[in-house]
Amino acid sequence: MAVQIPRGTQDILPGEVEKWQLIEETAKKMCQLYQYHEIRTPIFEHTELFQRGVGDTTDIVQKEMYSFQDRGGRELTLRPEGTAAVVRSFAENKMFGNATQPVKLYYLGPMFRYERPQAGRYRQFVQFGVEALGSMDPAIDAEVISLAMGIYRQLGLKKLRLVINSLGDKESRVAHRNALINHFQPRIQEFCKDCQSRLEKNPLRILDCKKDHDHELMGSAPSILDYLNEESAQYFNKVKEYLKAMKIDFQVDSTLVRGLDYYNHTAFEIMSEAEGFGAITTLCGGGRYNGLVKEMGGPDTPGIGFAFSIERLISAMETEEVQFERENGIDAYIISLGEEAKDYSVTLLEDMRRAGFSVERDYMDKKLKAQFKAAERLGATHSIIIGEDELKNGIVTVKNMTTGEQQECSLQNFVEEYSKLS
Ligand code: HAM
Repeated sequence: MAVQIPRGTQDILPGEVEKWQLIEETAKKMCQLYQYHEIRTPIFEHTELFQRGVGDTTDIVQKEMYSFQDRGGRELTLRPEGTAAVVRSFAENKMFGNATQPVKLYYLGPMFRYERPQAGRYRQFVQFGVEALGSMDPAIDAEVISLAMGIYRQLGLKKLRLVINSLGDKESRVAHRNALINHFQPRIQEFCKDCQSRLEKNPLRILDCKKDHDHELMGSAPSILDYLNEESAQYFNKVKEYLKAMKIDFQVDSTLVRGLDYYNHTAFEIMSEAEGFGAITTLCGGGRYNGLVKEMGGPDTPGIGFAFSIERLISAMETEEVQFERENGIDAYIISLGEEAKDYSVTLLEDMRRAGFSVERDYMDKKLKAQFKAAERLGATHSIIIGEDELKNGIVTVKNMTTGEQQECSLQNFVEEYSKLS
């Protein structure tokens, strides 16, 4: 049997890949406007990075990592997300000493999670993400959210819902944690095994449990917003104020806890509200992670960021029936008749490409009519026709494929003459 693609992965073929390119270019352009700069980190990292960064009690670390030992006995993991590695790199490369602060970075690349594949959930997926490190100004939280919303808006998405929450600072979280333990403890036996072990280790995670989602204690669980201390509440108010000033609509949802352990203060998600989008509606997730740089061995530095997958973005765009900008066709298609003309087309093709034109010719020994068809299919602006007689007389015919107009050009300085046409 033929070898097939691994479960949860996909080939992105020509025809589809143009959508990816459009999204990638748009996201990069937006980063230029907002002054975020690209960083590239390895596809695999020491397993410990994610255990410490993402958190030992998270589903990602406990169940979803592609971990392996290399031939030197090192414990390595294909990155399940980008933040931990960016923060590692920030600390390792001492970017906290950069003249420009905060350090604003973006990344784009494949991530790997051993999840149950379904629509919008892959085992290899591509995340675009940003991280802003070094500032504790609530305006940067608003900026990061505005950037995510801006990319989506630029790409034509309209049916979006932005949900924000605050997870507070350490003190607020301890208070909330104790309240959660008191709330769930008496009836924890009614919850799944995972939740039972979460109770002591990380009770906040219970709120995110898919199995126990409908348990009556979930709805009545203490809200983090009631446990925010003065400073955290003020911080959150400021973020909301800035979002309003930017005219970015949002909803506050105190049950938004996110699936990774490093968050504090602002947490947010952007969902698609497009009808028929499917069960998984979250397009983008992010938040603040003020303790992470220190955890990675750097100085105490605040940070905030988000990530979204291109896969989910494309399906949201398809559901909203957003028109993907059609890739422009090629400049010209060379149609040749006879052996000599065919040979000559090799030179012409090369000359034109060197001059910066996108040009194609026939390599399948097609008849005249089929060559014209190919020119049409490729969306060629012109076809360049070389016949035996024309070759003898040192001329070629250039046909405008839209108007049908034909024009003769000399072969001698063809590229120059063609440049004037196009
Ligand atoms: P996350 O919520 O785990 O956060 O993932 C962010 C986004 O990645 C999701 O909203 C979704 O678009 C996409 N995603 C996650 N898993 C899959 C999957 N299996 N298939 C397709 N898409 C997926 C993070 O990864 C954080 N690092 C975000 C962040 C950056 N927080 C601060 N900075």
